[in-house]
Amino acid sequence: MNSSEVLIKATGLTKKYDDFTAVDSIDFEVYKGECVGFLGPNGAGKTTTVRMIYCFLPLTEGTLTVAGMDVSTQARQIKAMVGVSPQDDNLDPDFTVIKNLQVYARYFDIPKDEATKRATELLKFFQLEEKRDVSINALSGGMKRRLIMARALINEPRILLLDEPTTGLDPQGRHIVWDEIRSLRKQGVTIILTTHYMDEAAALCDRILIIENGKIIETGTPQELIRKHVGEDVLEVEYDEAVVEILKAELPDAEVEVFGEQVRVFIKQPRGVFERVVKKFPGKNLTIRNANLEDVFLKLTGRKLKE
Ligand SMILES: Nc1ncnc2c1ncn2[C@@H]1O[C@H](COP(=O)(O)OP(=O)(O)O)[C@@H](O)[C@H]1O
Ligand SMILES: [Mg+2]
Repeated sequence: MNSSEVLIKATGLTKKYDDFTAVDSIDFEVYKGECVGFLGPNGAGKTTTVRMIYCFLPLTEGTLTVAGMDVSTQARQIKAMVGVSPQDDNLDPDFTVIKNLQVYARYFDIPKDEATKRATELLKFFQLEEKRDVSINALSGGMKRRLIMARALINEPRILLLDEPTTGLDPQGRHIVWDEIRSLRKQGVTIILTTHYMDEAAALCDRILIIENGKIIETGTPQELIRKHVGEDVLEVEYDEAVVEILKAELPDAEVEVFGEQVRVFIKQPRGVFERVVKKFPGKNLTIRNANLEDVFLKLTGRKLKE
């Protein structure tokens, strides 16, 4: 990663839909070659932000540049270097699979033979070769997602914007997409990935932005965020008021959080502390496990769930 080169830069970036502020004066930078994860609950403003980066939505206030170019005035040049896998399926149902790729390639003035060559390779990679000549309506949801990802790569983009690229995919489909993301990263492609899968973000992203209510509430590498917010280990137990009281008394420095039927205890101390406590509940099923990015996410954004 060449951390000196800023490829995407937002300053005071704001998007309002009438009176509603969907993106609220955010500042961020994306460096060349990194994979940045946008995480946040539904409605946080992730898709809106991504759409402004690929010049699909005008911004309301602030500035946003891609490779030093302004999204408001240099949309054509920006679009040429960006690949987009939008959250919603916008494949053309009137065309076959291959035709969707060929027609998309025309927007980038890619010669027909070259477009067909690239499309064929992409279909092969995403295991859609057999579906080459079928209509879009004959694809499963997962196949459509893979085709959208293939289409995003037709112009050999330097920047890739992936808005929930694996939502609805089966595990095999997810791994095909993960492999492709890893391979593109190795080739130096800069990636923004929005996802609701925390394991995916932890596996693929160099850096995470957590977004809530149109604001960036935290940034860091997955490991930094885990260490900062939840420590090394998490204690889990099924909700039980008496157990919660004892845990709070035993571990005054801990944070005891209730997520539905489950209690999670976070503490910034080594593992031994939990092991001592677990011994006090012989009949209960208390589990100690490694802290992960989902713990961070729920801790920072999950408060509403408990109300
Ligand atoms: N075209 C629109 N008109 C009005 N409100 C919108 C529009 N698009 C999105 N919103 C609202 O903006 C907020 C952010 O949406 P979105 O960017 O799609 O969030 P996310 O991708 O994080 O789930 C939501 O409250 C959503 O309802
Ligand atoms: Mg979205």
